[in-house]
Amino acid sequence: MRVTAEFVKSVAKMDQLPRERLPEIALVGRSNVGKSSLINTLTGNSRLAHTSNKPGRTQTLNYYLIKPEGGRPFYLVDMPGYGYAAINKVVRGEWEELIGRYATSREQLCGIIQLIDLRHPPQPLDHDVSQWLQAHDQNVLVVGTKADKIAKTKVPEAMLQVAEKLNIDSRDTLAFSAQTGFNKDKVWGWILEATGNRG
Ligand code: GTP
Ligand code: MG
Repeated sequence: MRVTAEFVKSVAKMDQLPRERLPEIALVGRSNVGKSSLINTLTGNSRLAHTSNKPGRTQTLNYYLIKPEGGRPFYLVDMPGYGYAAINKVVRGEWEELIGRYATSREQLCGIIQLIDLRHPPQPLDHDVSQWLQAHDQNVLVVGTKADKIAKTKVPEAMLQVAEKLNIDSRDTLAFSAQTGFNKDKVWGWILEATGNRG
């Protein structure tokens, strides 16, 4: 997939959201699960989104403008990671409100990718977020990250466990590795479909 990608802005408040009505795909998941890494791998630019092994790196909605060659432009929106315990309660409440309001009111939001670290079973917070997204009728893809960190033969089993625990159709899940690019094309396929770039 050939695309150009650029960072556009960081948003900390609803009134700062971009005004043009391009389709948006949001990335949600625990801190450190690999959201920023997924953006970098998909766009082929390892320095586009800041990654770090220190959790809580991304603290705003970060907008990346993606232009597929010959296709319709859209935004990938990197959301702050959840479950980062060291963040104080006030800040955490503000995050949850921003994300909740964004996901329920943003009309051009056409898909949410929830990332789960394949090395561990989904945590209670992953389950809660998944239930919340399903209850709000969001178009969701669950991506199991860091697939390169577990044995290849264990990947299908780990993905089934994710689907089961989150109560989601396994056809709405994909394993992924930012390191090897495993399933990069399939994740792109889902995003292009969701953003009206197919069919
Ligand atoms: P926050 O911004 O804190 O919410 O984290 P994030 O979800 O954006 O995670 P980030 O992309 O910064 O990745 C966290 C760490 O995991 C980094 O050290 C990455 O290099 C590593 N990582 C991410 N994806 C993969 C992957 O597919 N394979 C491997 N081996 N490491 C990965
Ligand atoms: Mg990040």
